Amino acid sequence: MCRHRLARTVLLIAVCLCLNALSPLRLFAETGYEAWLRYAPLDDSTRQKYASLPASVTILGDSPVLHSAQEELIRGVRGMLGRTLGAAKGEPKESAFVLGTVGNVPGLRSRSDIGADGFWLTSGRINGFDCIIVAGNNERGVLYGVFALLSKIAHGENLASLDEVQQPYAPIRWVNQWDNLDGRIERGYAGRSIFFDNGSVRTDLSRVRDYARLLASIGLNGCTINNVNADPKVLADDFLPQLARVADALRPWGIQMAISVQFSSPKTMGGLDTFDPLDPRVIDWWRKKAEQIYQQIPDFGGFVVKADSEGQLGPSAYGRTPADAANVIARALKQHGGVVFYRAFVYNHHLDWRDPKNDRAKAAYENFHPLDGKFDDNVIIQIKHGPIDFQVREPVSPLFSGLEKTNQAIELQVTQEYTGQQRHLCFLAPMWEEVLDFDLRIANHSTPVKEVISGRTFRRPIGGFVAVVNVGMDKNWLGHPLAMANLYAYGRLAWDPNLSAPTIVDEWTRLTFGSDPLVVKTISDMQLNSWHVYESYTGPLGAGTLTDILESHYGPGVEASERNGWGQWHRADHDGIGMDRTVATGTGFVAQYPSVVAKMYESLASTPEELLLFFHHVPYTHVLRSSKTVIQHIYDSHYEGAEHAQQFVEQWKSLRGHIDDVRYAATLARLEYQAGHAIVWRDAICNWFLRTSGIADTKGRVGHYPDRVEAEAMQLHGYEPVEVSPPETASQGKAVQCPPSAQKCTAIFQFKGPAGWYVLDVQYFDQNNGESKFQVRVGDQLVDEWTANDHLPATKIGGDSSTRRRIPGLALRPGDQIRIDGVPDQAERAPLDYVEIRSEDRR
Ligand code: GCU
Repeated sequence: MCRHRLARTVLLIAVCLCLNALSPLRLFAETGYEAWLRYAPLDDSTRQKYASLPASVTILGDSPVLHSAQEELIRGVRGMLGRTLGAAKGEPKESAFVLGTVGNVPGLRSRSDIGADGFWLTSGRINGFDCIIVAGNNERGVLYGVFALLSKIAHGENLASLDEVQQPYAPIRWVNQWDNLDGRIERGYAGRSIFFDNGSVRTDLSRVRDYARLLASIGLNGCTINNVNADPKVLADDFLPQLARVADALRPWGIQMAISVQFSSPKTMGGLDTFDPLDPRVIDWWRKKAEQIYQQIPDFGGFVVKADSEGQLGPSAYGRTPADAANVIARALKQHGGVVFYRAFVYNHHLDWRDPKNDRAKAAYENFHPLDGKFDDNVIIQIKHGPIDFQVREPVSPLFSGLEKTNQAIELQVTQEYTGQQRHLCFLAPMWEEVLDFDLRIANHSTPVKEVISGRTFRRPIGGFVAVVNVGMDKNWLGHPLAMANLYAYGRLAWDPNLSAPTIVDEWTRLTFGSDPLVVKTISDMQLNSWHVYESYTGPLGAGTLTDILESHYGPGVEASERNGWGQWHRADHDGIGMDRTVATGTGFVAQYPSVVAKMYESLASTPEELLLFFHHVPYTHVLRSSKTVIQHIYDSHYEGAEHAQQFVEQWKSLRGHIDDVRYAATLARLEYQAGHAIVWRDAICNWFLRTSGIADTKGRVGHYPDRVEAEAMQLHGYEPVEVSPPETASQGKAVQCPPSAQKCTAIFQFKGPAGWYVLDVQYFDQNNGESKFQVRVGDQLVDEWTANDHLPATKIGGDSSTRRRIPGLALRPGDQIRIDGVPDQAERAPLDYVEIRSEDRR
């Protein structure tokens, strides 16, 4: 009896110990919603370090921002140290954390070296009590200081001799959301809008408040909440109170709100018969509209304007300039303290592609450089980082060097429009770092882009950073659990562009997944490699992302950019590839850069190879520094990239048990998908170039797939073969699908290899206009079944919808019959491409 009880007790203790060991991982429902603000409990020894911290937090003032700062400190300390600080107001009556602006903290010497939004973390005695002081230049600075303090605690840093001043590199640190009022988000990949639904501002704005908190935690200070392709209704009288509700939700976190407006609004919704910026009625209309807005939103940030671009009307309709357009709005905002972000993304999308001198890359500089000095001081020209459009690799926009008397902001993209749409891992900080550090050599002086855009180089009053983010209603904000590293990195770089990508990813990983060394090393390594990996299978050597530029911007589509007016040309033909942008023989774009940079790009020999095809047209046989020809480089880079994408899966699997199950599984699913889709990219691009150039892969891989059984070559019951267009987006250009009349279709083949353990990859197409079901049998045994419901951006068979189901650990014997049954649904006809069978020993 006694022995029995003892055994039970031992068992119980073992179970408890076990649960305890796992508890830091299991305690939270880790959906990713908390992002880097998890405030996960610190281990006991780290907690010990903070045993003598004050027990209360007092604020010197009564504003919403100070209250946020106080609540955040309480929340963070409670989460990490398991203690609830007392909340107080006014001068400390005990040892306390003291939060206030510099001038308000009793006894604190004034400092002239803390700029707007900056803060000072220090300690000292106030009223005879030992205090930890967070002193901001302004209230936002206090808030940023609190986040910085919490981050120090999360990293286990010593607070004993705290004395640190930090300030942001530039005043403008904004995000743009491309949300439509109906709730959809243009180029958003993580669900519907957190701001709007069905034509109105959402009733429940709790996610907006939480988003504002995330933005504030990385030092961001403004948010434009609607699509740059703006709905005129956003300025309607009855919509303004709704906007005021959003501003109220953002304000406690120091986030100013702005909106995108149609430049034609005075006419499209304002009742005038013109929107000519020089017409006195138009001038008056903008003035009154601004007044009306500021009555309801006193701290309104201003307007973003996309005009004369991609179908948006602009000043050219009246023969006026972007400066005329920007200034009429800027003057209406000026007395209220508002600004205009006028976008430099102005180009003709009906360019004649037959003219070799035409070049979309030249547009921004040609449109804006001649107007330098003509813009009012509260206008900021918002410039995409490259001259085309967020491609996987571009040189920096030459316009940064062409505006010496005009405020600028760089526009980056957190939403991964051309970089995998948060289905592929693509950490962009290394790209942004290169862009920001790029030395334009203006007047032959060191002039890195970061110094120019922040206003330092030309002593501009304002300037800085904007990023298109497009978070959505998905629980984890951006869809892919690892994609939030991009938002974090953007904020950190806008605060301090001298931070390095490895430093940033290390911080992000620790805050998001904890400090287990294996976790930190593995995730950092994956993130830091991911941009190059994505580039290597989607657009090497600076050709641009070789995607379907006409629709999804997602899967492979080499020809979509050619022979049309959009100007995203790579000019690949039978003999060679690349846009000749030189002065000597090409479009002359190179001349827009300052002379040192222009000289570098003008010559083939000195152009960095990762941008070779952006600046030069070369034959496929052109030999690179690696001694490889361009065509062989294209083949090799796609094979290496796809291999590397598969390694991400293996790397991630090494973290099993080291992070919580929910985020582990969600990430694994995305990485496995990516590994499959990287093969789709590899095969599509390589086969297109093989067909076009006629030059074989020296390694014999392209066009030869000995492990594949094509669906069209199987024994088909119900299924019918279809030609796929473009052909390179399906294996051998063909697939099979069920005709409209069929309820169920079957494809059968016989396994011919030796007996053993195999991995079976079923390559099929998952459209978003139906949810087909698939079953796989070996003989009579059902070995796998699934539903095609991944909501990929595709309504047809092709490179966007092509995906795979991996069935590992399958015992096969010669002669085994493998059978796939597909049950179509609506417009998705259970389409199949091929089955690839590989021995497990070869993996
Ligand atoms: C890209 C994007 C559009 C967007 C545009 C812009 O072209 O695909 O959806 O409207 O950029 O930045 O204005």
